[in-house]
Amino acid sequence: MSQLPSVLTILVTGASAGIGRITCQRLASGKHRFVLAARSADKLTELASELERAGCEVLAVPTDVSDSHALTKLVEASIQRFGRIDVLINNAGIECFADFDTLTFEEIQATVATNLTGAILLTRLVVPVMKQQRFGRIINMASTAGKHGPAFGAVYGATKAGLIAFTQSLRGELGPCGIGATAICPGFARDGGIYDDIVRATGRRTPPLLGGTTASKVARAVEKAIRSNPPEMILNFPALRPVFLLRDLLPRVGEKIILAATRKFLKRAAASRNAGK
Ligand SMILES: NC(=O)c1ccc[n+]([C@@H]2O[C@H](COP(=O)([O-])OP(=O)(O)OC[C@H]3O[C@@H](n4cnc5c(N)ncnc54)[C@H](OP(=O)(O)O)[C@@H]3O)[C@@H](O)[C@H]2O)c1
Repeated sequence: MSQLPSVLTILVTGASAGIGRITCQRLASGKHRFVLAARSADKLTELASELERAGCEVLAVPTDVSDSHALTKLVEASIQRFGRIDVLINNAGIECFADFDTLTFEEIQATVATNLTGAILLTRLVVPVMKQQRFGRIINMASTAGKHGPAFGAVYGATKAGLIAFTQSLRGELGPCGIGATAICPGFARDGGIYDDIVRATGRRTPPLLGGTTASKVARAVEKAIRSNPPEMILNFPALRPVFLLRDLLPRVGEKIILAATRKFLKRAAASRNAGK
């Protein structure tokens, strides 16, 4: 794979809040060029000013990733301003933890369009640019929910499992073209993001057996993934890879352990969401 440019042009979706925002703040020390995308124009402008103060060049493009025309405009604007895209961080995402049969078609469609189709379409637009450069890094913000479909999070888990498989395919196909891809799989991440909303709604943190991570650790992992192009990073304490390994070897035993650690918390999250509807 070609060498990492010292100043990268980084396109980040879901940059306006949570993990996306914290990741941009972390990467800003590299004085990179940023293209920030999310729907909230005001929050993007605020982050853009902060990154510019840190010495970065920034383009903020208010974008709904579930709108394919908006994605085309996003890539066109990025190329017009910076002429290249070195790193694509597909981070925009929404959750829909709920009893599966209470989800509306609209909620299901929005979740798939935001978390999975949007990432696939945007990557489809960016890969030709990366091929021409003979360099690129695609970082897909998946989840541990993609490693084992969570109870009460069927659609969310399906989108994240889709992102993991998508990443594996991209690596196999595009590695020889100098393009890397990594699936980042955080557990519940404190300090900004979806998990904090769940904690606010339920009044409960995850049980110790399930644990979690932090948005700052996720940001650090993204930085490392850009440098070293690993296939997949699972971020959680306690470590979950051995549990997934056990689940693959002994599916019933593994499933029992996973459900014992997660089901009650996730049921509570779903109930609080149903109550808020
Ligand atoms: N926090 C966690 O516990 C956790 C754990 C595992 C994985 N993740 C994943 O990490 C990613 C970031 O999550 P987070 O916790 O940081 O969530 P968050 O704080 O709610 O931020 C989500 C980001 O996605 C953007 N977004 C949502 N819908 C969008 C759309 N249609 N078009 C463009 N942007 C959109 C939001 O911006 P606008 O509203 O301005 O559009 C926001 O910037 C997600 O993919 C999530 O699934 C999070």
